Amino acid sequence: MPRPRVFVTRSIPTPGLTLLKEAGYRVDVYKEDRAIPQNELLQGVKNADAILSLLTDRIDEAVLAAAGPSLRIIANYAVGFDNIDLHAAETRRVAVTNTPVPEMSEAVADHTLALLLGLAHRIVEADRYTRDKKYQGWSPELLVGTDLVGKTIGIIGLGRIGTAVAKRATQGFGMRCLYSSPHRDATFEKKYGGSYRPLEELLQVSDFVTIHVPLLPATRHLLSTPEFALMKKTAYIINTARGPIVDEKALLRALKTKRIAGAALDVFECEPAIDCDLTDKLELRTLPNVILTPHIGSATKETRDAMSICAAKNIIAVLSGKAPLNPAK
Ligand code: GLV
Ligand code: GLV
Repeated sequence: MPRPRVFVTRSIPTPGLTLLKEAGYRVDVYKEDRAIPQNELLQGVKNADAILSLLTDRIDEAVLAAAGPSLRIIANYAVGFDNIDLHAAETRRVAVTNTPVPEMSEAVADHTLALLLGLAHRIVEADRYTRDKKYQGWSPELLVGTDLVGKTIGIIGLGRIGTAVAKRATQGFGMRCLYSSPHRDATFEKKYGGSYRPLEELLQVSDFVTIHVPLLPATRHLLSTPEFALMKKTAYIINTARGPIVDEKALLRALKTKRIAGAALDVFECEPAIDCDLTDKLELRTLPNVILTPHIGSATKETRDAMSICAAKNIIAVLSGKAPLNPAK
């Protein structure tokens, strides 16, 4: 029997790749350090037993068909898996897995708090101001921000990441916590003093709204003009989940009309573009009350190594006839 072949769509941290090689697989890594173009993806996956994919890859029926009947698993190197056609994979009995490692929840929660603190203390604006040599001396009203203690964080989606954010916000910064989610969580409420609210109510009273739901048909444009209209004018939005959950055009309008106070975005509706409509002169970039980071929520050494190992372990499990460890669902 030939050695099972794993196609890796872009180079990832080595620990997982080492595990795959030690398991005796042939590991083919796409040689360019860029998101693989679709035509090269179709070529690369041919006769693969496993695909180790990234969130920037569109894994659809055409890719599954190109791989052929040898394909057993798509291991997505991400916690989200909206880039994969789950139905097409299921029809072909191909397993789909993700990497919900504990490190990832902590890293994304850290990044969320970094953005929250960045907004509250106007860190990015202040850095720019200082670099621009505008600092002439201490002043009572220079770059005045907002306190966190006693303020309300509204967490949309109470999975692992949402919970890790709540822990930091309540225990670390003395914030009040509201959450909206399909299920109420009594243990969570007791532990962090969080209270459930329907989304509309959460939006009305929160000072910081942060998104931690997956991208699904039901969450696309979850926040748009009617939702921004409910929010306090002093409120901020943070998105470290998936860009299309926020209607970016509506967000831009809400920011420009001062309907809300500001936003911090790690993800974008038309990534890697910062605004979907490239003719609108990339306006998000010009607003001082906006912080932008390039989808780096989970980008820590520890987390990316753990994700690499997790993806590899899922591949090894499935190729040795076992159930996937982290089935995407
Ligand atoms: C990152 O966005 C991920 O889904 O892992
Ligand atoms: C600020 O630097 C202060 O001393 O209040």
